[in-house]
Order: sequence, then structure tokens, then C-alpha cells
Amino acid sequence: MRSMVLDAYGMAPKLVELPAPKPGANEVLVRVKATSVNPIDWKQGSGKGRPILRAKFPNFVPGYDVAGIVESLGSGVTKFKLDQRVHVRLSGTQGGANAELVVVPVDELVPLPDALDFAQGAALPLAGMTALQGLRDACELPTSGASQRVLIVGASGGVGHFAVQIARSTGAHVTGVCSTRNVELVRSLGAHEVVDYKSSNPWSGVTQPFDCIFDTVGSSPGDYLSKLTRRGVFASCLPMPAVFAHAALNPLRARRVRPVLLSVRPYDLGVLDELAVRGLLRAVIDARYQAEQLAQAWAHSAAGHAAGKIVVDW
Ligand SMILES: NC(=O)c1ccc[n+]([C@@H]2O[C@H](COP(=O)([O-])OP(=O)(O)OC[C@H]3O[C@@H](n4cnc5c(N)ncnc54)[C@H](OP(=O)(O)O)[C@@H]3O)[C@@H](O)[C@H]2O)c1
Repeated sequence: MRSMVLDAYGMAPKLVELPAPKPGANEVLVRVKATSVNPIDWKQGSGKGRPILRAKFPNFVPGYDVAGIVESLGSGVTKFKLDQRVHVRLSGTQGGANAELVVVPVDELVPLPDALDFAQGAALPLAGMTALQGLRDACELPTSGASQRVLIVGASGGVGHFAVQIARSTGAHVTGVCSTRNVELVRSLGAHEVVDYKSSNPWSGVTQPFDCIFDTVGSSPGDYLSKLTRRGVFASCLPMPAVFAHAALNPLRARRVRPVLLSVRPYDLGVLDELAVRGLLRAVIDARYQAEQLAQAWAHSAAGHAAGKIVVDW
């Protein structure tokens, strides 16, 4: 099978032929149609994430988000059928997405609704689940009937653009922080208000505090605590040491700081699919690359200015 692999940290992914894997008991072999790029992919490939994100060489196949079709079933699998459309955020820390075929434990796989194409299906899992868990679990935002004021920092990014839409779907009042060129995009995703961080006085129009601030760009919590309500939550999916240091003080103060660490839950991917089918959530696809162009796709992501998601077609 065609596979994009790394044989060492820092090298560009290269195309090789690897033996096709076979599904074992309670596993499904998926023919990959699309994957999406997440910063974890190139961070892991660069070696930046060591030792937590160690990659096993040679022939490390990077990437975690997959949409595709069921190619074959291991013994004991009754939940899926051949040719069924599926998607998944591969669990574990050894990637596996960027190859023609990937073996997935049956309990991790989720049917891809007809309303979503493979690009949407690949764009959604990792970033979408992070957004959902950041808002629902870390910020304690109810999934419906929310009256909270929510601020999304990095509202145009992969995680942030999903977070804007998810927060909006709950009924919350949503403000997004983005740069000038993405203001219209963030409004189109449902933000009631937009803070342009490139403008000379970004916060001049914001007069009320937020119940929840979800940061996706690595801001220091200290810069945002004064923008929270008295019992508000600052959650960050880029948990720098400052986030953990502030979080350690949670028992001592009413405002809380919480790290967001993605937990791979097929149930949550189903929640996102349902929102998408109801027309409340869509992936904005900034760019699409062919499988052999994975290095370019990574460079695009690593530049830090993707608006929405980057998809790789297989
Ligand atoms: N903890 C976890 O489990 C977890 C899960 C998923 C992702 N992450 C991490 O979360 C981060 C975000 O992921 P992602 O997929 O959303 O990345 P991304 O798509 O690459 O984010 C890029 C976006 O961030 C915006 N941005 C950059 N600086 C900004 C600022 N100061 N204020 C507002 N917007 C800004 C950029 O817009 P402009 O170019 O217009 O500024 C761009 O749209 C990554 O570091 C990733 O590794 C962590």
C-alpha cells in the first residue's frame, strides 16, 4: 500500500510501499479517502513533542484523522459492513492515518453520515472533539439552552472555528478573536461579536466579562483572567506551564483555569456528526493537498495561519 512515512525526526514525509495490514479480531480495515492535518502531526514529525510524542522509526506513518470506507472486517465485527463510509480519530500516539489502508479497533470507528463528504469527515475528528470537550467539559457549557458569554481565542483555526459553531449551537453568546482577514469568516460561523487582534484597540468594544474563555493559541491565562466573570473558566488546548501553574491555584480562587487534553471518544464524534447533519457545524477547508504533497500540507499548517482545516486526499 502507498504510505507517507518518516524514518527520522525532522525529515519530510516520503512515499513508500508498505505491506497491507490485516485486521485482527474486533478490528476493521479502512481504505483511506482523506486525512486532515493537525499541528500534532508535524510537531510529532519534527521531534518537538518528545518524549510524550515519541515516533517509532523506521516507517512511521503520521496523522490521526481519517475518513474512508470499510475494506474488510476482522473476526467478530458485526457493527460495520463492507464499503460503509466511516471516520475516526486514531487513538494512541503512533499515527497511522497517511496510508492507503489503516486498521482501526471497531469500538473507535464511527459511521460517516451521508451528508458529509470525505473531506468533511476527515476534518472533523481531532479538532472537533477538542473544541467540544473544551467547551462542554472544561468550560461546563451546557449543550443546549446556554446563556453564557463565550470567548473563543483563535476563532479562525482548526479547533477555534469548530468551537465558534459549537458554542453558537448551544445558545451561548459567542465572541471570536481573530485577525482582520478572518473577521468575516468568523462572523459567518455564527460569532455574535468579533475581536480583531490586529486592530489598534482590539478590546474597545467589549464591555461585559465572559463566563468561558477557550484559548486555542497558547495565550497566557494571566492576560485573560480579568475578562472573566467572578466564577468564569479559562480553558486552554495549548496548555503551557503557565496554564498548569494557574490551574494549581483553582482551589484558592473562584475563577478557574483548566487545561484541555483531547480524549478520543467515538461518542463525541457522533455528537459532532449530529450537529453537522443538522446544519449547525461544518468544516471550513482552507486547502486540499494530494497524499504525495503531505510535506507541503504540513508547511501550510506550521506557518500558523490556516483558516479552518487542511485536508489531504488519498
Ligand atoms: N490539547 C489538545 O488535546 C489539543 C488538541 C488539538 C489541538 N491542540 C493544539 O491547539 C493549537 C491549535 O490547533 P489548531 O488545529 O486550531 O491550529 P491551527 O488551525 O494551525 O491554528 C491556526 C489559527 O490560529 C490563528 N491565530 C494564531 N495566533 C492567533 C492569535 N494570537 N489570536 C487569534 N488567532 C490566532 C490563526 O489566524 P491568523 O493567522 O489570522 O492569526 C489561524 O487561523 C495547536 O497548537 C495544537 O497543537 C491541542
